[in-house]
Parts: sequence; C-alpha cells; structure tokens
Amino acid sequence: MTHDDRLFLVTGATGKTGSGTIDLLLRRGHRVRAMVHREDARSRSLAEAGAEVVVSDFHDLDGVAAALQGVTGAYLCYPIHPGLIEATTYFAQAATEAGVRSVVNMSQISARREAGSDAARQHWLSERLLDRTDLLTAHLRPTFFAEWLTSWWEVRDGEGYLRLPFGEGRHAPIASADQAHVIAAVLLDPEPHDRAVLTLHGPVELNHQDIARTMAGTLGFPVHYEPISVEEFASAMAERGLPAHLIQHLSNVAVDYRNGVFAGTNDNVEKIGHHAPLSVEQFVLANRPEFDTSGPYFAPAP
Ligand SMILES: NC(=O)c1ccc[n+]([C@@H]2O[C@H](COP(=O)([O-])OP(=O)(O)OC[C@H]3O[C@@H](n4cnc5c(N)ncnc54)[C@H](OP(=O)(O)O)[C@@H]3O)[C@@H](O)[C@H]2O)c1
Repeated sequence: MTHDDRLFLVTGATGKTGSGTIDLLLRRGHRVRAMVHREDARSRSLAEAGAEVVVSDFHDLDGVAAALQGVTGAYLCYPIHPGLIEATTYFAQAATEAGVRSVVNMSQISARREAGSDAARQHWLSERLLDRTDLLTAHLRPTFFAEWLTSWWEVRDGEGYLRLPFGEGRHAPIASADQAHVIAAVLLDPEPHDRAVLTLHGPVELNHQDIARTMAGTLGFPVHYEPISVEEFASAMAERGLPAHLIQHLSNVAVDYRNGVFAGTNDNVEKIGHHAPLSVEQFVLANRPEFDTSGPYFAPAP
C-alpha cells in the first residue's frame, strides 16, 4: 500500500481504457475517483474494487466541477460522440478552478487540423485548448485499438471474416489494457510529459491480410480479410443503426488509414508504461471467447 494521498479522477471510467487505468491505480494502492455516466453493474464493480464512484455527464459543468474537487491528476476520456469541444472546455475550466495539477487527455493518432473526421479534428482542437491552460498536459494518440478485431468480427459457416475498408494500409493494433499502463504512469509522474503528444502503437505493424492470417493461426480456423469500399462500410454501419457522428468519423479515418496515418510502431508503452504490449496473437488468446460469435459492431449504448 502506498502512503501517497494524491487523488486521481478517471473519466470514461466504465469504458475500455478508463476501467483498465482504475484497476492498475487501485492495485498499486492509489486513491481513485471514477466518474461514471450512469450507475449499473460496471459502476458497482468499480466501487467494489475500491474506487470512489461519482455519477456525472461531461456536459454538466457543475457535475464535472464536483467530480474534480480535491483531485491531483485526471484522465480525460470522451467517447466518439458529438460535443467533445464543449466537454473539454468544461473539463479544463473546472479542473483549473479546482486547482488540479495535471491531465492525461485521450486523443487519437488521426487528430489533425486538416482531418476529414469531425471527431479527429475536434480532438486536435481539444489538445490545443488544453495546451493553453496551466495544467500539466499530455495527449495520447493511439492507433486503432486491438478491440477493433472483436468489434468488426463476423463468423459465417465456422469461418471468421474482417469486412473492412482498409485496403493495404497497416497498423500495429494496441490493446486498451496496455494503454492503461501509460495512462497510469503519466498520471503518477506528469512533469516529464508536459505538452507531450504520445503516439501509442502495439508491438507489430501488420496489414489486414497479415492480421487475418495471424488470427487464423491462433484460432485454428480460416479467417478472411474482405476489403470493401468506404461507401460499403458506411452503408453497413447505417444498416446497423450506428450514429451519424460515428459513421462520419469512421468513414474518414478509413481513408486516413489507407493513407498511412495509423501506421508505425514505437516503444512508448514499454518506455513510459514499463509494460510489454500484447501482440495480435496474445490479444486473440486473451479474448478467445469473443471470437466464437460475430462482434458487437460498436453497438450504440442503450
Ligand atoms: N477505439 C479505437 O480504436 C480508438 C483509437 C484511438 C483513439 N481512441 C479514442 O479513445 C476514446 C474512447 O476511449 P475508450 O474506448 O476507452 O472509451 P469507451 O470504451 O468508448 O467508453 C466511453 C466511456 O465514456 C462514458 N460516457 C459516454 N458519454 C458520456 C457522457 N456524456 N458523460 C460522461 N461519460 C460518458 C461511457 O459510459 P456509458 O457506457 O455508461 O455511456 C464509457 O464509460 C475516444 O476519445 C477515441 O477517440 C479510440
């Protein structure tokens, strides 16, 4: 148990990177406040693990301000929903009022001024907004998460399919749990990362033919990459009822992906998080039951 009495706020606490970060901080004996969107089984399990749970919406300035009271460092993680700039503005103002020292900001590798995706351009603007505050600020720019492999996974006649518009583009999938090691490390030691833009990659860069081959070898049955057009991808998302903002984002980042924006590898997870990130084989083995049936296709929240 640490004697450190700092309090860390984790937003997006029931989501992929937030929940992993809370788990790591609590296991290391740190005080954690989890900002959840709603009370449910996920929030109860955070409370049972030892987090102080507060319910707030990013778009409730007073709620966010209350969540930030007494906090030393905060993880800001807003989903791909409309309203990122308002949420970041509220968060930055409330954190400044509360005397918070540092923020770790979840952005993405496609965050650019000229991005075609509204969400990616808003991530870039949110980074710039946080840079203008007095908060010690680090921006995380991950490539596509390894969880994509479960979200877009289809099973037909006992064989696996990845029907995606990524052409011959490449990336090194990174598991959310591996990113949590970086988030926790930067929350605990923010000074060296102030104003840093940290791109996060998994250990091995692959195209989707390579990914399908690797998955087939691990799962023991055929897996196919079916390249489709961006238009077909957008229609498939619309048929599944995904929100327009997400469709606009994913259609545009698919083009970015083809153009190499998501490519590359680096050792930020090892260097900063002191942790070896999972390969695609290791991710598939660790999540083996997810590949028995078709994935959730980013099912909209209830
Ligand atoms: N997936 C990728 O490949 C990828 C790649 C690069 C960057 N990113 C970035 O990763 C971020 C998402 O991180 P993640 O995957 O860890 O999160 P996530 O699993 O999508 O979870 C989002 C969390 O935010 C909560 N939430 C939603 N709306 C809220 C609101 N209005 N107020 C308060 N909380 C709210 C959700 O709670 P409920 O579920 O209860 O609504 C959930 O806990 C995005 O910023 C995205 O740009 C993702």
